[in-house]
Amino acid sequence: MMYNLLKGKKGIIFGALDSKSIAWKVAERAHEEGAKFVLTNAPVALRLGTISELAEKTGSIVIPADATSMMDLEELVDKAVEELGGKIDFVLHSIGMSVNVRRGNHYTHQDYNFTKTGWDVSALSFHRLMSVLYKKDAMNEWGSIVALTYMAAQRVFPDYNDMADNKAYLESVARSFGYFFGRDKKVRVNTISQSPTPTTAGNGVKGFDGFIAYAEKMSPLGNATALECADYTISLFSDLTKKVTLQNLFHDGGFSNMGVSTAIMDSFMENYKEETIDEPKKKDKK
Ligand SMILES: NC(=O)c1ccc[n+]([C@@H]2O[C@H](COP(=O)([O-])OP(=O)(O)OC[C@H]3O[C@@H](n4cnc5c(N)ncnc54)[C@H](O)[C@@H]3O)[C@@H](O)[C@H]2O)c1
Repeated sequence: MMYNLLKGKKGIIFGALDSKSIAWKVAERAHEEGAKFVLTNAPVALRLGTISELAEKTGSIVIPADATSMMDLEELVDKAVEELGGKIDFVLHSIGMSVNVRRGNHYTHQDYNFTKTGWDVSALSFHRLMSVLYKKDAMNEWGSIVALTYMAAQRVFPDYNDMADNKAYLESVARSFGYFFGRDKKVRVNTISQSPTPTTAGNGVKGFDGFIAYAEKMSPLGNATALECADYTISLFSDLTKKVTLQNLFHDGGFSNMGVSTAIMDSFMENYKEETIDEPKKKDKK
């Protein structure tokens, strides 16, 4: 459905790797809603992914930038303002990567150089980006900045590893920088806490299949898809949400406020009964 919600707005979209990426869906929806934007990703992602296809489809240019490099971010913002012919109205930070997750290091046995890299890419990059936008005064008043996050920032998900800590930091940066951006530039800053979603980053999490199936059964509305996340992001970029800022907004079909669902309880009790009938001794030992 199209509503012209972003007609005349200009943006920068980070993190579209392939057609499964949440940022890819945001770009497609932003284009449908009348926005003009620049696409960006790390140089290595541009080589591995399929972003040029998206650029063609949405009439955008691609400007490479490593989100951990101040020089790259500065060049990106300058070029984006030039290319779009004016200041920016919306920015999507859709970046996440943990080297410990990639290398299969357990949370209790991290390589701290990997931890630092993951934190720099996934969390500090949001501060860097906002700092460049702020110093260059590159955002229009009533602009909107959104970063994507996950509920492991608040609650324990053992296999989410050090990304949980990175997301907690990211959400805190949204509040802290959001204050100054709001006070000084009338720009809002929020994070969207999205359901598990089958993307390259999502599938990197150990046991992701179980993770996503469990969340689906727990949530009254089921998991939110990447496209639904894009729709929600568009609403935050639109003029319909001007006074929403410093928020971590759950977009998860209700998962974050659940204790247990009947679907989860039923399948738990089925196994529990089997265990008590078939293996009473094993159960006694627990
Ligand atoms: N997939 C999920 O289950 C899920 C759930 C909640 C939140 N999120 C968050 O959504 C965001 C997007 O992830 P996705 O699921 O679409 O996966 P994705 O793998 O498609 O996107 C991650 C992006 O980060 C980019 N990136 C990595 N290092 C970078 C760097 N140094 N500089 C610039 N870009 C870099 C990658 O190239 C990629 O495009 C991430 O912040 C992720 O943590 C994902």
